[in-house]
Amino acid sequence: MSMAPTHGTTPEARPAFEAVRFEDDTGELCLVDQTLLPGEVRTIRLVEAAQVREAIYELRVRGAPAIGIAAAYGAYLGARRSAARDTAGIEGDFAAACALLRAARPTAVNLGWALQRMERRFQAEKDRPQSELLAALRREADGIRAEDEEVCRRIGENGLALLGRGWGLLTHCNAGALATARYGTALAPIYLGQERGYGFRVFADETRPLLQGARLTAWELHAAGVDVTVICDNMAATVMSQHRVQAVLVGCDRVAANGDTANKIGTLGVAIIARHYGIPFYVHAPLSTIDAACPDGSAIPIEERPEAEVTERWYRQRMTPPGVRAYNPAFDVTPHGLISAIVTERGVIVPPFGEGIKATLA
Ligand code: MRU
Repeated sequence: MSMAPTHGTTPEARPAFEAVRFEDDTGELCLVDQTLLPGEVRTIRLVEAAQVREAIYELRVRGAPAIGIAAAYGAYLGARRSAARDTAGIEGDFAAACALLRAARPTAVNLGWALQRMERRFQAEKDRPQSELLAALRREADGIRAEDEEVCRRIGENGLALLGRGWGLLTHCNAGALATARYGTALAPIYLGQERGYGFRVFADETRPLLQGARLTAWELHAAGVDVTVICDNMAATVMSQHRVQAVLVGCDRVAANGDTANKIGTLGVAIIARHYGIPFYVHAPLSTIDAACPDGSAIPIEERPEAEVTERWYRQRMTPPGVRAYNPAFDVTPHGLISAIVTERGVIVPPFGEGIKATLA
């Protein structure tokens, strides 16, 4: 298939695959099904908003920016597939698609952000002929995707400036090319460093329960020739205590106005350990992930997912005794006091974050 990664060190270390793309010829949204990685690289082709919602909920596409992009195309498909003949009918189908997509996952603010952009575009263009309205929606979704690629490239440049040659870096979850239009957020400095001979050694937390670190981060970094070692989540303290890590790089799903940050479950523990060992903890955030309307971390909605993801998914047999409950919050909140800097496309924000975020958004 066309998106198979290349192996070994390449001058262009940036990933060759595209996690989310829209195919003009067929009118299909093409996603790399991330539930099958690393064993199989399969593209799924979606033509309806309900299919996009299913792909987002099941984590076939995941990562805050990528689900925003997928949702934007899902909204476009909702209007494009409408059988209605008049604008009011199309508007109803479009609104229903947006509502369906918005409810798919609650924590990453990019999902609602991207849909809001699509809704505004719809309102601005709805008096035009149907073909022009659809073309405008398609352009908006394409724009969200293209902007994300550029944003990630800039985050990579800004993040790399904080790192030194030969450093050991610890990552949690996957905030790479699979989670964005290209490059990633937290992995973007690593790709740029790889191209420029920085010789990073990356420790990827496996990230229970869904193993985004082991399955996805390790897959895409290894494919790009980066020196990557997977560790179980409970080994992070050991590798930090052994002076193998000089910085922790993570992405995020929502940053509150005071800098509190939601990211994959386990991030909080990593931040606490990094603080204990005096290791800088860098959060990588496109401005689309900053929610200025959210005062602090306590207001961030945290997704709770099915128990079966903890008790049996990814394993051939049940891992816990039948009848025993499992608790499965998908994200946690790292208080701003544990964060050394927030790396955005517009620069690096340092404490006090409240002021820095306000200035950066302005
Ligand atoms: O549940 P997931 O896999 O969607 O969680 C993803 C993360 O927590 C990422 O770190 C975050 O979305 C940033 S992706 C650039």
